[in-house]
Amino acid sequence: MKKWLLNWRLFSLFSVMALVLAGCGEPFISALQPAGEVADMQYSLMLLSTAIMVLVILVVTIIFVYVVIRFRQRKGEENKIPKQVEGSHKLEIIWTVIPIILLIILAVPTVKATFELADVKPMNKENRDKEKTLVVNVRANLYWWEFEYPDYGVITSQDLVVPTDERVYFNLKASDVKHSFWIPAVGGKMDTNVEESKNQFWLEFDQEDAEKAGGIFYGKCAELCGPSHALMDFKVKAVPRDEFNQWIEKMKNAKPVVTDPVAKEGEAIFNKSCIGCHAVTPVDNRPEQARTAPNLGNFGDRERIAGILEHNEENLKKWLKDPESIKPGNTMTNTYGKLTDEQIDALTKYLMSLKVE
Ligand code: CUA
Repeated sequence: MKKWLLNWRLFSLFSVMALVLAGCGEPFISALQPAGEVADMQYSLMLLSTAIMVLVILVVTIIFVYVVIRFRQRKGEENKIPKQVEGSHKLEIIWTVIPIILLIILAVPTVKATFELADVKPMNKENRDKEKTLVVNVRANLYWWEFEYPDYGVITSQDLVVPTDERVYFNLKASDVKHSFWIPAVGGKMDTNVEESKNQFWLEFDQEDAEKAGGIFYGKCAELCGPSHALMDFKVKAVPRDEFNQWIEKMKNAKPVVTDPVAKEGEAIFNKSCIGCHAVTPVDNRPEQARTAPNLGNFGDRERIAGILEHNEENLKKWLKDPESIKPGNTMTNTYGKLTDEQIDALTKYLMSLKVE
């Protein structure tokens, strides 16, 4: 290939990469803009380890360059054999001790942070103060998230709502395959496992940073789980404690109130089939095996359709018409072709009316 063409291709590739990677710098998703205690700790560790690595690279490079220049073969000395040296106690001790020191500098704060991040004692206390220590049960599914607030008997899906400036504790598990719960700007990630091995951890959401991020953090599944793994997103609404309390109160009593005649038609269609999997009240006392689809109790308040599309009627209709084209491999897919356009319009009106705010 012509050299200029190769150069041009490399240049284009780097330009596109710079453009795409720059998009990761948003405060609602960037791990490099920590928005809470956990993220701060993880960020400091990243900085520390990067600094140590850069230091090692620098020192090694400088020594390397010095040696190459200082001991290179000079003109007229082609046959000269330099003094032969074998073994040096001094040098061997130096290059053994320095890495040990570097490892200690890395290990002490890392181990300390690991124990701090794993401190979930407050959530497991017998008589935990439920007003102050919030516990959320996270259940990951192909390809949606369920968030249960066990102290309040409330369930929501796709949009996690949390109070800011306090530690929120999570029980993590999965109902089908292994997923991983990650809110890049706030901390994580941690695997959600199937069966017994439930993971627990805590996160803290900073009020100021939440405001900077527009009140919403982006969450991701961070474990390859199937064709729509990259689309298994959720959103986190981080709000002050009293606002959170108000939301929980509204959720506890939320029931569909349908007045619009088209929405009423939608409700009838919904109650004939969809209701078998989806609940429309945030209070859902069925066992979790029966909760095979996202709770739609506050669907109208959601940030996204299916976790990824902008929240509007048009996108909801697209989703209802052909879910497979939006999220390959999801379990809604068997509705494809079963709904007429009128039915989809009616369902859309109904679903969008499910609000607590
Ligand atoms: Cu769930 Cu990746």
